[in-house]
Amino acid sequence: MADASHPAPLVLGIETSCDDTACAVLDGDGRVLSSVVSSQLAAHRPYGGVVPEIASREHLRNWPAVSAEALERAGVGWGEIGLVAATRGPGLVGALLVGLSLGKAIAYALGRPFHAVHHLEGHLSSPFLRPPAPADPAPADPVPQRFTGLVLSGGHTALYTVDGGAVATLGETRDDAMGEVFDKVGKRLRLPYPQGPHVDRLAEAADGEGTAPAAGPGRFGVAALPGHGFSFSGLKSQALKAIEALEAHGVATDLEAAADGDGGAAAVAPEVLRLLAEFRAAAVAQVLGRLERLAAERPLGVLAVSGGAAANRRLRRDLGAWCAARGVELRLVPLVYSGDNAAMIAHAALLRHRRGLVDDPFSAEAASRIPL
Ligand code: KG4
Ligand code: ZN
Repeated sequence: MADASHPAPLVLGIETSCDDTACAVLDGDGRVLSSVVSSQLAAHRPYGGVVPEIASREHLRNWPAVSAEALERAGVGWGEIGLVAATRGPGLVGALLVGLSLGKAIAYALGRPFHAVHHLEGHLSSPFLRPPAPADPAPADPVPQRFTGLVLSGGHTALYTVDGGAVATLGETRDDAMGEVFDKVGKRLRLPYPQGPHVDRLAEAADGEGTAPAAGPGRFGVAALPGHGFSFSGLKSQALKAIEALEAHGVATDLEAAADGDGGAAAVAPEVLRLLAEFRAAAVAQVLGRLERLAAERPLGVLAVSGGAAANRRLRRDLGAWCAARGVELRLVPLVYSGDNAAMIAHAALLRHRRGLVDDPFSAEAASRIPL
């Protein structure tokens, strides 16, 4: 709970770029006083993916309850908010517009500075947030002047260098994002959206929950590209073909029933679990391969890894081992802040505020695609 001792400015963050309606309150030290994320999964589930029009409507419907809960959990009133931030893009324009318009209106009504934050700027600094501790939240860790950023989400897979807040892209995926191929392969197996966590959980069962020697990429190739880019569509095609091959051998691949709970893996054919473990191994091996190449060229310094797919258990283990072996300081986003959330948006705004930046609430615009 906030009390008078929380340093100013209190930051209200709003994130509505896709299918999560999120609101958070941070204090001036980057302490997360509250972070509320309302998932729209149930509304989109019948369609097997996110329906933009439904997302916008759901944001409008959810906002009053989500914002009220964020303020209540933080123990602050509207008048105590000192800074307002909302995501400006990239994302679904209709969905972005809801949060951005709310943010501008709130900033104007309160007479407070406003920040229109790039979604990836939010992910990039999210590894420095501390996991929530309701009774005694910790300040965010200082963000180093320079760090290497790796964002792995459903829409982006890219490597960046960040220097004093200035972001330069080293390389990004030339086709699908990492989370996206987990979703597509899972969808082919009739797992519900978002399929990434299910695929990870079933692969984890094949790898003995991380206690047995983990699968290698097996039948799947690990993409090797020049430069620092990524490519996941080849792996996706290979995985879809491998599923077909299993079906041709009479293996059951409809995993709809395996979606619930942790016991679901018991009902899945071992061949399918094995396939998912090899698929996951190949995806993670590509990420490590790209880091290996980058590290051969320059010291990585601090490596900050974020985004929804940074929740992947194999990735977290392998990254930990890889960084420890090379003396790279790894900052892995806390699991609660890996997926989309508003704490990361408020945090990015606080960092911008400390650098003396501010946006004009009248001219800030939402955009589906914007460079960093
Ligand atoms: O960052 P995020 O919440 O939204 C975007 O900005 O895209 O990332 C969502 C993506 C989805 O594709 C989801 O399936 C994937 O992250 N994801 C995972 C895992 N958890 C979420 N992918 C692989 N393994 C996971 N454990
Ligand atoms: Zn995201």
